[in-house]
Amino acid sequence: MKNIVVLVSGGGTNLQALIDAEKSGIIKGGRITCVISSKEGVYALERASQNGIKSIVIPRKDYTAIADYTRAVTDALIAEKADLVVYAGFMTILDEQVVKAFPYKMMNVHPALIPSFCGKGFYGLHVHEAALEAGVKLSGATVHFVTEECDGGPIILQKAVPVENSDTPETLQKRIMEQAEWKILPEAVSLFCQDRIEIIDGKAYVK
Ligand code: GAR
Repeated sequence: MKNIVVLVSGGGTNLQALIDAEKSGIIKGGRITCVISSKEGVYALERASQNGIKSIVIPRKDYTAIADYTRAVTDALIAEKADLVVYAGFMTILDEQVVKAFPYKMMNVHPALIPSFCGKGFYGLHVHEAALEAGVKLSGATVHFVTEECDGGPIILQKAVPVENSDTPETLQKRIMEQAEWKILPEAVSLFCQDRIEIIDGKAYVK
């Protein structure tokens, strides 16, 4: 059984999707052993506690330098014996220390079809604002490995979702979460836990 540690910063609906998937047997070969939050008092922590999952808060605001913050999170991940680290709405970009400690063992869910609307500054509702501004007719979600390049690691799974004429950033976010994120994140986690993701020449392939 692989130890899955989930990093969160907010409401934690993606964490909930992982918890539900574990309960219903969709995640094979792994279990969520710990949730780490970059913020105190977020609802994701409540979800962990309601489900008997250990949680740790490492507040971003307590650290000035990102290197020190990354060290603290990396140490916690090592102490938790994480086999897989899942960024599920984690709003801090950690530096290369954590990537070196967990190479191709960290995945992130991003609320757009990478390489569109991604990179520094593209997070949460900003991503959907940018998609609506560009007038795209399809957006969606991507699960990818975390590397040193923000949102630039090998893509594992993607799912497209239609954009409606009447969409606001909020309605588009909700549709993308419901139709894409909450499905492909547990699926990618399960594939990883079954050792079914292969990296060849910097690209990820499902076996
Ligand atoms: C999700 O839409 C996730 O894809 C996004 O933030 C939201 C978190 O929601 N993540 C990013 O934008 C990271 N670049 P949640 O806390 O309810 O899972």
